[in-house]
Amino acid sequence: CKFLLNRKSVIEGQRCALFASLRCALRCGALVLFVTSDASFHSVSFSETDHPKVLITGGLGQLGVGLAKLLRKRFGKNNVILSDIRKPSSNVYHSGPFIYSDILDYKNLREIVVNNRITWLVHYSALLSAVGEANVALARSVNITGLHNILDIAAEHGLRLFVPSTIGAFGPTSPRNPTPDLCVQRPRTIYGVSKVHAELMGEYYHHRYGLDFRCLRYPGIISADSQPGGGTTDYAVQIFHDAIKTGKFECNLKPDTRLPMMYIDDCLRATLEVMEAPADTLSMRTYNINAMSFTPEELAQELQKQMPELEVTYDVDHVRQAIADSWPMNFDDSNARKDWGWKHDYDLPELVQTMLNYFGAETRMARAN
Ligand SMILES: NC(=O)c1ccc[n+]([C@@H]2O[C@H](COP(=O)([O-])OP(=O)(O)OC[C@H]3O[C@@H](n4cnc5c(N)ncnc54)[C@H](O)[C@@H]3O)[C@@H](O)[C@H]2O)c1
Repeated sequence: CKFLLNRKSVIEGQRCALFASLRCALRCGALVLFVTSDASFHSVSFSETDHPKVLITGGLGQLGVGLAKLLRKRFGKNNVILSDIRKPSSNVYHSGPFIYSDILDYKNLREIVVNNRITWLVHYSALLSAVGEANVALARSVNITGLHNILDIAAEHGLRLFVPSTIGAFGPTSPRNPTPDLCVQRPRTIYGVSKVHAELMGEYYHHRYGLDFRCLRYPGIISADSQPGGGTTDYAVQIFHDAIKTGKFECNLKPDTRLPMMYIDDCLRATLEVMEAPADTLSMRTYNINAMSFTPEELAQELQKQMPELEVTYDVDHVRQAIADSWPMNFDDSNARKDWGWKHDYDLPELVQTMLNYFGAETRMARAN
């Protein structure tokens, strides 16, 4: 194994390259690596006038397709690559570049980053809270081992890395109403533990190696055109589907379970905004973001203003309820608002109206067809 190193490159800010190169050389056996003297891990490696070249992992879940659409509008269709281990629908496949990528396959990930000259990585692959509790070994592997691969590749190639965290990164001993950015984090799910690990590892790589790591703690995300992936806040999406289809909804959380929530457009815009924020505006690397906070009963009442015939009953799922009872009821996101100007657009009434408009239009289209 041989390294070509310019003397100038062996300075504090570039230890990252050496470290990551060593790790990758160890993984791959004999390998020749070139580390340029201007390698810097405090800034991304594209010129500021260029568009970033973005890779989204786990891109076929609830959030990835919407994010790709937003980023493609801004940076051009071919500059945003969606990836996943699942087969994309024909719509998604024809809407822009898609590539197979298993985040547990380090070599495959590195090939994708190198061959496509990736400069931003949005790491969405994960097993969510309820699914994770049903398969702890897989959640540990995808959410923790997978993250290690992502961190090493991002450090090695000087990428700007976004990893979402969650309200689930807090636990019953955290202050719950509101929950500040910095406080006790002792979650009780493998999902939460893996997300605290991701926050800490990302911040550690930032401070130790200069990795440009950025992280937002998302609340429960509500979307109309994509299905949730097995989280504790899924009920807030399902209620719309069931209300439209059957006029009835059976909720798996108690009526007074208060959780922070956000409409998907706000969540995706926040992600783009924090990725574009100048580094000197970020006083921290992991921020809470929030929009609204409601209970199943309050959401049902808002829906019933427009669908008075809607019937809501409750059949509590004890696993999900225990998770929800340990999570924040409300998020303090004042640091995001102060540092990089975060501002949500959707409160509960706008959220309900937007969701109903979407399903109304969909039903009209189905009838017309
Ligand atoms: N949706 C929410 O309400 C919410 C809230 C907080 C945080 N988040 C975070 O945002 C991210 C995206 O969430 P989502 O709701 O789209 O999740 P999702 O569960 O809908 O999608 C996750 C995707 O990861 C993929 N995946 C699983 N194993 C993989 C592997 N080995 N390699 C590559 N991909 C793999 C799955 O196929 C899936 O498409 C996650 O990290 C999640 O923790 C989501």
